[in-house]
Amino acid sequence: MDGEKGILRYRGYNIEDLAEKSSFTEVMYLLLYGSLPTASQLAVFEGSLTQHTLVHENIVKVFEVFPAGSHPMGQLMTLIASLSSFYPDSLNPNKSPEATNLTIIRLLAKMPTLAAMIQKKGKGHPVLYPQNKYDYVTNFLYMTFGNVTEEFTPDPVITDAMNKLLILHADHEQNCSTSTVRIVGSSHANLYASIGAGIAALWGPRHGGANQEVLEMLEYIRDNDNGNVKKVVAEAKDKKRLLFGFGHRVYKNFDPRAKIIKKACDNILKKLGVHDPLLEIAKELEEAALNDPYFIERKLYPNVDFYSGIIYKALGFPTPMFTVLFALGRLPGWVSQWKEMRERNEDIGRPRQIYTGEIQRPFVGIKERK
Ligand code: SDX
Repeated sequence: MDGEKGILRYRGYNIEDLAEKSSFTEVMYLLLYGSLPTASQLAVFEGSLTQHTLVHENIVKVFEVFPAGSHPMGQLMTLIASLSSFYPDSLNPNKSPEATNLTIIRLLAKMPTLAAMIQKKGKGHPVLYPQNKYDYVTNFLYMTFGNVTEEFTPDPVITDAMNKLLILHADHEQNCSTSTVRIVGSSHANLYASIGAGIAALWGPRHGGANQEVLEMLEYIRDNDNGNVKKVVAEAKDKKRLLFGFGHRVYKNFDPRAKIIKKACDNILKKLGVHDPLLEIAKELEEAALNDPYFIERKLYPNVDFYSGIIYKALGFPTPMFTVLFALGRLPGWVSQWKEMRERNEDIGRPRQIYTGEIQRPFVGIKERK
């Protein structure tokens, strides 16, 4: 990442090229193994993912204990961490490179199955088993939007849009969730536990949870302010609220992913024949903020979360699922960083603190305390 110049590359490849020309599984391979796969390498990799898409039948029972309306991210965190109970042979991350690779493939393969189950269970619909005839992304869309009562016909517009969004989210240096994965993994905790922790970190509204917040903020403007963005901008300047989807710790000119997603948003909505007034509100909000001295002085620009939710909504995802989709995209990045750390046998993560309290005090019994 070059935050000043707005550059993002995965292992040397420009994000713009990857988003335009590659598939999500190619990018997964790139992140995990260091180079883009040849056609035969990709076929073997996709074949191994296909072999591990099913989850243990008892996983479905875990859903029975979630109260209705529980947030998809809480469910995802629990389900991913619970895989450690179903695969006790994966608990030792130092067993062998082959064993680690199997754990990685299992996790990458099962994540779409679990994410789709969360959406299906949320609607009270029967879950769909994965179908080996579909590729990774199509399979996810089939399990999410397919129906036991009808044939599923993949829509190339939706599959392409999903691939693009997943690629754009795949890795991003030491963001909050990735650092969490690394620090948990540095204790030699297993992969499922480490990724469960990453999902927890991603959930927060200042990180991945912002994509849900953006959509809710746009809906708020539509429903309360007659589509006028002025009040929300004024409240953000008064520190009464955050302008979700704006600002970044590293990007100080623009987030290259936001540019790609904004363009994709226009194209995809047009291709799907969707007219969503939220897109107009988002564009007006962006325009108002980019021309306001508060945002200019603080170098606050739209980030990856600003336009993504409008696309997810057009594809048919419910708003609380948005951060699960971020997690699905980020998974290969988290896993690759965890794998790199294990391979380098890095030391345990152990930040120190600057303590500013009392240095030393005599102990006072409870009766004598004032
Ligand atoms: C992601 O790190 C990554 O790489 C993350 C990510 C990834 O791919 O992993 O890119 C994904 O998490 C994107 C960010 C999603 N979050 C949001 O959209 C939430 C809104 N954004 C902010 O909370 C904030 O901008 C952060 C958390 C993204 C960055 O915070 P920083 O770098 O700590 O900046 P800051 O909070 O110190 O802000 C500096 C100033 C402050 O004002 P002053 O005290 O100087 O007066 O800018 C203000 C802030 O109050 N500010 C905002 C604002 N973001 C910062 N004011 C209004 N709205 C905002 N969104």
